[in-house]
Amino acid sequence: MRNRVTRLLELNTIDKSIYTKYDVKRGLRNADGTGVIAGVTNICNVRGYYIQDGERMPMDGSLTYRGIDVQKLVEGFTADNRFGYEETAYLILFGDLPNESQLAAFKNVLHEYKNPPDRFTEDNILSAPSRDIMNKLERSMLALYSYDENPELSDIASELDKMLRIIAMCPTLIAHAYAAKSHYFDNKSLYLHRPNDDLSLAENFLYSIRHDNVFSAQEAHLLDLCMVLHAEHGGGNNSAFTCRCVSSTGSDVYSALAAAIGSLKGPRHGGANKKVMEMFDYIKREVSDWGNDGQVRACLEKIKRGEGGDGSGLIYGIGHAVYTLSDPRAVLLKRMAIKLAEDKGYSDEFKLLESVERLAPDVLSENGIRKTVSANVDFYSGLVYKMLDIPEELFTPLFAMSRIVGWCAHRMEEAFGQNRIVRPAYKVMSVNREYTPLENR
Ligand code: COA
Repeated sequence: MRNRVTRLLELNTIDKSIYTKYDVKRGLRNADGTGVIAGVTNICNVRGYYIQDGERMPMDGSLTYRGIDVQKLVEGFTADNRFGYEETAYLILFGDLPNESQLAAFKNVLHEYKNPPDRFTEDNILSAPSRDIMNKLERSMLALYSYDENPELSDIASELDKMLRIIAMCPTLIAHAYAAKSHYFDNKSLYLHRPNDDLSLAENFLYSIRHDNVFSAQEAHLLDLCMVLHAEHGGGNNSAFTCRCVSSTGSDVYSALAAAIGSLKGPRHGGANKKVMEMFDYIKREVSDWGNDGQVRACLEKIKRGEGGDGSGLIYGIGHAVYTLSDPRAVLLKRMAIKLAEDKGYSDEFKLLESVERLAPDVLSENGIRKTVSANVDFYSGLVYKMLDIPEELFTPLFAMSRIVGWCAHRMEEAFGQNRIVRPAYKVMSVNREYTPLENR
């Protein structure tokens, strides 16, 4: 068995020098770390560096949805004390901010579509619960295909209709998957709530995951803001690109979104928010004096060496493929987290997280990571969700529920705009050899 494992590892290891020798873009990244340009999009712009004299220079990050700065978008709806996710979804899908009547009509459609099909929960969620909610969400997405009389890709209007149904019912699918998990795997009582007609998507999520349906306006507005910040992040991020890849084949919306959910689940992508909190728990146990930079730093070095945390060598919540000096989403989330931490008595935890944010870039650079790194969106989102009493297993599903809008926009652009199958090439290193008949092997 050990020989077989060693052989398998050898067979699947590609010497990194080969990538340089043949100019193969490992991870679809150019030699300077910038992403290979793989498509054209009008949806979102993620900027984290500029090029000067051929060199990548760090800068504060910026994020725009359909050309509108996300920070301005957030300032706009928070100043009016309105929920922002629905109008953000409208902007991302339809290209412009809605006026009052357009927004009202859009919300009505979402309300109308918010319930999963009849018996969907009983037949697909309760009958086969999963310990992992992302897994259940992915399978639910595929199962929805069977409830659609015309599930295949046809015209853009029918495609949009399917997408709006999916966006609207996603909070309920997640809440029901969580209820089933709590009941069947954690021995808790089963509470299944129907979404409430008068609530926004963020409110409905809190309403549905709590057995007593109780939540505060402050909690709902904070969750809504988190959803806005997670709604979209360009065509090159792994899950959007996965969605675009599948969509480029002409496959159906359920397959494309299920694939995107599978991608987001990974700890290097959306799964990092849960991993940040696990890493944070580890640091809290390891470090006796949270205010001591030396101790925190030693702990981060141990994590980087793969001797602490989950052993992967990753400091979760730090670094990004595009952002360098700052991730604008992390900046906004941090602002929100400071206030909430004071109100909820988490100030010490917040300060420890801030020390990790300050020390980690140095630890990484001393370990040969040349790029300027900073806290990413997942660094503070976990603490915010924890302070909102959202269970850890829902952190990544919440990301998926918010990002589904971005995936839908990318699918439309890919399936109706580019109209060419994504098909890159691989450098082949295997050598041809003769076939050996079974009796001679
Ligand atoms: N901890 C340890 N190593 C890290 C790191 C981190 N936080 N961030 C980057 N690196 C490593 C990369 O793995 C890569 O190593 P390699 O050359 O051996 O493959 C090297 O530094 C250069 O990485 P870079 O090009 O800057 O980033 P990337 O695009 O390869 O990776 C992430 C981007 C986000 C996957 C990476 O920063 C990471 O794994 N961060 C932790 C997980 C996380 O927070 N993910 C959420 C993203 S929103």
